This record gives sequence, C-alpha cells and structure tokens, in this order.
Amino acid sequence: MNMLGNNNELKKEGQLNLDYDKLPQHIAIIMDGNGRWATMRNMPRTVGHRNGVKALRNIIRTSSDLNIKYLTLYAFSTENWKRPKSEVSALMKLLIEYLRKEIGDLNKNNVKINTIGDITRFPENVLHEINIAKSLTNNNNGLNVNIALNYGGRDEIVRAIKKIGQELLTNNITINNINEELINNNLDAPETPDPDLLIRTGGEYRLSNFLLWQCAYTEFWVTDVYWPDFTENHLIQAIYDFQNRNRRFGGL
Ligand code: FPP
Repeated sequence: MNMLGNNNELKKEGQLNLDYDKLPQHIAIIMDGNGRWATMRNMPRTVGHRNGVKALRNIIRTSSDLNIKYLTLYAFSTENWKRPKSEVSALMKLLIEYLRKEIGDLNKNNVKINTIGDITRFPENVLHEINIAKSLTNNNNGLNVNIALNYGGRDEIVRAIKKIGQELLTNNITINNINEELINNNLDAPETPDPDLLIRTGGEYRLSNFLLWQCAYTEFWVTDVYWPDFTENHLIQAIYDFQNRNRRFGGL
C-alpha cells in the first residue's frame, strides 16, 4: 500500500477527486518561505530549511505514489551564493545529510536522482554525495527527481549557447542546425519534458530565474503557504486545479 493508502482513502479524507489519467507528467517546485517560516517562530533561518527538508521528503514520496514521472526542485539558485556564508554552508550540510539519510529509501522506491545547474562550483564533499546518489539510482525508472543546484535559467541558457558555439566553431553543425530542439538538447536535462505545472510556495508571483526556457507553456500555481508547511494535500490541490485549467498552448 502506498502512503496515500489508495485513491478511495484520498476521497474518504475529504481530498479532491484527481483524474489519474490526466496527471501532470512534470511538476516543478519553487520551495520558498523557509526563512520566513522560521523567523515567524523566532528561530534561525536554518531551522526553516531543516523543516523544508521534511516537506521535501513528503512531497517526493507523495509524487512517487501518485505516479508523477518528473519532479524538479529549486534547491539552490545561482543567486543564493549571495546569502551569508553560514546559511550557504548550512544548506550544503543539509543536502549532504539528506542524501546520506534518504538515498537508500529513494532507491528502494525506484526514484532516480539527477541534478540541473552547474554543480562544479560545489565543495568536494557535496559532489561526492551527489555522485553516489546519481550512480546508485541511475537505473531506476520510477519518479525522476531533478534537484536544481547552483541553478539559474539564464546561466543554463548561456551554457547551452556556449556548447552550441563550440559545435559551430568545430564545423560539427551549421547555423541552419540551430533550432528549438538543438537548444533543448543542450540544456541540463534534455530528456525531461517541459513542466506542466509549476508550484511556488511563499506567495511571490515570480519565476526567480527558474526553468526560463522550459516554462513557456507551464501552468503556474502559487500558494501563500511557506514551504515547510506544504503537505501532500496542497500538492493534490495544485494538481486538481491544474486538471481544471484549459491549456491552449497558444491555439484556440
Ligand atoms: C527558499 O526559502 C528555500 C531555499 C533557498 C532552499 C530550499 C532548500 C530546501 C527546501 C532544503 C534543502 C534542500 C535539499 C535538496 C536538501 P527562503 O530561504 O528563500 O525563504 P524566505 O523567502 O522566507 O527567506
């Protein structure tokens, strides 16, 4: 039995009736509000991040149980280096701790871990855990979790353009080969489809440099709830609302 029990149990608990044939294939999440969650409780911001990890664990589990195929999580942006050193290193520590503690269960649950973003800037011990997580889960074919680390949408596009420029310089391609598919293939997770649904917690209505290329036709869902308070019920609500949107992709 999965953690949601079963679909009937969802209904019994007063949950919304999801259409399991129309689930979003890819959900992206901006996990915002950890700092405010802690500040409201007169606690250090890092306590907010720690509780954010608990929410993260729950949402990965729920997404896997719901048979969502891709989940992309904004964990650390290219701009987050501007935060106090102590907060940056607390986030690194949490990431290491999370991967060490959870990777066994994630693997058992057939979750495949990947990252997007330029992780070369991360300390050796963080890279080590990331590499273990990726290689251990490499053959899994359940939920694909992309963790965005040192990620910025603009940075990702710049890096893609550099790769394409290199191909041009070495005459592997010509200008006429440059199209949307080629650009997509040079982004960080070319095999991941564009997000169908983008969830942002913490109440701000902006993209904050997340998946700029990929969100061209993504449905946005924003909640005031701070990330540590985000539960499977919120996720289900977001999916339910998504299923009631009319996606036209620019058509009629
Ligand atoms: C935004 O809250 C959150 C982050 C910058 C980090 C997100 C990280 C986690 C959920 C935990 C660590 C991640 C992993 C993968 C272990 P904020 O600090 O910007 O909150 P605020 O807007 O209230 O200040």
